[in-house]
Amino acid sequence: MRVLSGIQPSGSLHLGNYFGMMKKMIDYQEHQELYCFIANYHAMTSVSDGKALATGTLEAAANFLAMGLDPEKSVFWVQSDIPEVQELTWILSNFTPMGLLERCHSYKDKVAKGIAANHGLFAYPVLMSADILLFQGETVPIGKDQKQHVEVTRDIAIKFNNHYGETFTLPEPEIDAQVATVPGLDGQKMSKSYKNTIDLFLDEKPLRKQIMRIVTDPTPVEDPKDPDSCNVFQIYRLFLDKEQETALRQRYQAGGLGYGEVKQELFETVRDFFAPYTERRKELLADKDGLRKVLADGAQKARYAASKTLRKVRKKTGLIY
Ligand code: ADP
Ligand code: TRP
Repeated sequence: MRVLSGIQPSGSLHLGNYFGMMKKMIDYQEHQELYCFIANYHAMTSVSDGKALATGTLEAAANFLAMGLDPEKSVFWVQSDIPEVQELTWILSNFTPMGLLERCHSYKDKVAKGIAANHGLFAYPVLMSADILLFQGETVPIGKDQKQHVEVTRDIAIKFNNHYGETFTLPEPEIDAQVATVPGLDGQKMSKSYKNTIDLFLDEKPLRKQIMRIVTDPTPVEDPKDPDSCNVFQIYRLFLDKEQETALRQRYQAGGLGYGEVKQELFETVRDFFAPYTERRKELLADKDGLRKVLADGAQKARYAASKTLRKVRKKTGLIY
């Protein structure tokens, strides 16, 4: 099975990104054909500082590699190193009804928040469709917020296939119900744009500060507490196996557990979990040329797959004459 997903290089990573997407991707490389890329074209819808985009791209690469992505076992590249994706975007645009894009929640939410409604933001799902279809991705692991974009991809692929004959594989979104939405400090979806994140690769002090800011209810220490409505528990359980989760659940229900105490435990758990990866990330970022070399090799592999699909598409659409 071919698994494909991308992550934008905009800003730092948080637990939602890790559990919602990165972890699953990295686990996949062991048994599936994994295609993983850094969506720097997509990031242009929110980043217009060239230096920041370039730095963010290298950092995103270091993040994935530090967390265990193995460029020997997977295909790992930067979106803009494969120009074929832009050509396919244009071709697919001609099979994308305006209404399909107008219905996209992500676009509507961003515009409602005051982000300028430019064409890049509007056409974002078409570029994402090209990402997926160019590599014939079968399974696309994503967070719940991206599900509609995979449905748009399927709609576009069906339209194209109906018109020109079987060309594209129809992708399936894959959303892990358990971590579909990792809650943030305030219980809303954890997201950069809500400023409610617990970030990866932080030093101890700022990490502890973020965790201590998790919103809890005013139940007194001695009273029993409901783990399911507690933001600390909902985040903590991501790091626990079944047995550990049950044990923590029982401590909540027994009473006598203070939120300060659980937050401290959670802080230590997150810190210890990410410490070795943080170290590795530092080493990777100290050798930028080394990183660039890994990405160039990845792009070469990706380009081979991309050009195979695009050749077929160009032929069917009459672009080869
Ligand atoms: P943000 O909402 O912070 O801007 P992105 O949109 O850059 O995050 O998300 C990158 C990837 O991480 C996507 O696949 C997205 O679905 C996933 N993701 C982001 N936040 C969460 C979350 N809170 N829970 C689960 N997955 C998430
Ligand atoms: N839009 C995705 C996000 O913000 C990133 C992305 C771009 C992507 N192209 C993709 C994800 C293709 C999966 C498949 O999270």
